[in-house]
Amino acid sequence: MTKVLIHGGTLVTDREVVKRDVLIDGETIARIEPDLQVSEAERIDASGRLVLPGGVDPHTHLDLPMFDTVSSDDHYTGMKAAAFGGTTTVIDFVSQPGAGGLRRGVEALRAKADPKACVDFGFHMNITRLDDQILNEIPGLIDEGITTLKVFTAYNGRLRLPDGDIFRVLRMAGQHGMLTLLHAENGDVIDILVGEALAAGHTTPEWHARTRPAWGEVEAALRGIALAAQANAPLYIVHMNVAGELDQLRYGREQGLPIMGETCPPYLFFTLEDLKRSDGAKWVCSPPMRSAEDNAALWRGLGDGSVQVVATDHCPFFFDGTRPIEYEGQPVAIPGKELGARDFTKIPNGVPGVGDRMPILWTYGVGKGRITPQQFVGLISTNPARIFGLYPRKGALLPGSDADVVVWDPDRRFTYGVSVAQHRTDYNLYEGWELKGFPETVLLRGRRIVDHGRWLGRPGMGRYLKRQPGAPVV
Ligand code: URP
Ligand code: ZN
Ligand code: ZN
Repeated sequence: MTKVLIHGGTLVTDREVVKRDVLIDGETIARIEPDLQVSEAERIDASGRLVLPGGVDPHTHLDLPMFDTVSSDDHYTGMKAAAFGGTTTVIDFVSQPGAGGLRRGVEALRAKADPKACVDFGFHMNITRLDDQILNEIPGLIDEGITTLKVFTAYNGRLRLPDGDIFRVLRMAGQHGMLTLLHAENGDVIDILVGEALAAGHTTPEWHARTRPAWGEVEAALRGIALAAQANAPLYIVHMNVAGELDQLRYGREQGLPIMGETCPPYLFFTLEDLKRSDGAKWVCSPPMRSAEDNAALWRGLGDGSVQVVATDHCPFFFDGTRPIEYEGQPVAIPGKELGARDFTKIPNGVPGVGDRMPILWTYGVGKGRITPQQFVGLISTNPARIFGLYPRKGALLPGSDADVVVWDPDRRFTYGVSVAQHRTDYNLYEGWELKGFPETVLLRGRRIVDHGRWLGRPGMGRYLKRQPGAPVV
């Protein structure tokens, strides 16, 4: 087994910043000590560099069918982009099969992901249709390593569950140490407003946001929290984007309820104004971009610890899927946002981000003094690993943990954009932004997969992670 010594670096964990060497033996971390002397180890010089646990992104949608297309990153290209940005674990979502049991959906996604995966990965299960048989299948998902379920209060007629069914899912999950994830919007109000907007001839991207009011999220978040309280179950609110939603999360936690939540980088920067641009479709996702006040409130939530995780909801589409890009030397074009050029309801919902998350949050969070380096590590790695039943195998720099390690150059300055990010799409939300701080070397279970901009990973090397139930509330 190969030994790797990362020497001279400064370790950053969610608790401390300290000078330490890291010895990796095979796939795991063997020792963490000052000035380790080891012969016969491959050496990585981390002088002037930070050494972080690999990022854990618990919210991606790879190869996801939507409308008349599919998200443009598959389980190879999306995970490769993740790795370049310092993320070595992602958790993707299983779509519930139209007919048949939940396990069929798991098998179908494993068949797509296993041969392509190049970082480690797990799955959440979407519950979008419920009957007694499906309800009783839920605990069996733990055998598949799936301990988390996502439910929706929006996307009527497609993904939404009635409140009673959400309550039944929450209660079953809670009884078995599983965690329910909530997509909080008001599907009924959205449908009415969308119908009215189209009838009035409003077709542009800004109407995507205008027909999904922020109050719908505030109300649905509180509804979800109240349902979880009545079901005596924990809840995790995904993609929080408005101040009022965060207020509900704080309220629930103040009541002692086991409630947690995530935000995603675009909600820290972008607003309805971006959707009004001529290329506004690039920002269309659900829930939508809001206001500068919401951006600021979410930043405060990261700083004061009331938001537990920064995930991405990575769900990329081409802006113009009629024009091929070059990807690994081949032309690739996948139908994308142009599908909604004449009707905002036909714009595939989602934005790229899995590779952007860590460099963007470092520059604009740590670099601007909004969060500490320890909070950064907590938000992007340790907290999601704990919440989703992967800690201390993932999200930690500890002897025995998987050697998923990022050697981070905090001084590297560069102009970010689509040509730097490795997503398989034709645009980047942060085009032209000046960043400082980027991964230099990324190791997955002791193997270098990114090194000074070179890609050393390969499809199939990523491992499916069976996650543990009974994870703590962070
Ligand atoms: O627009 C988004 N976020 N697409 C992905 C699906 C979801 O609701 O997370
Ligand atoms: Zn969602
Ligand atoms: Zn999502």
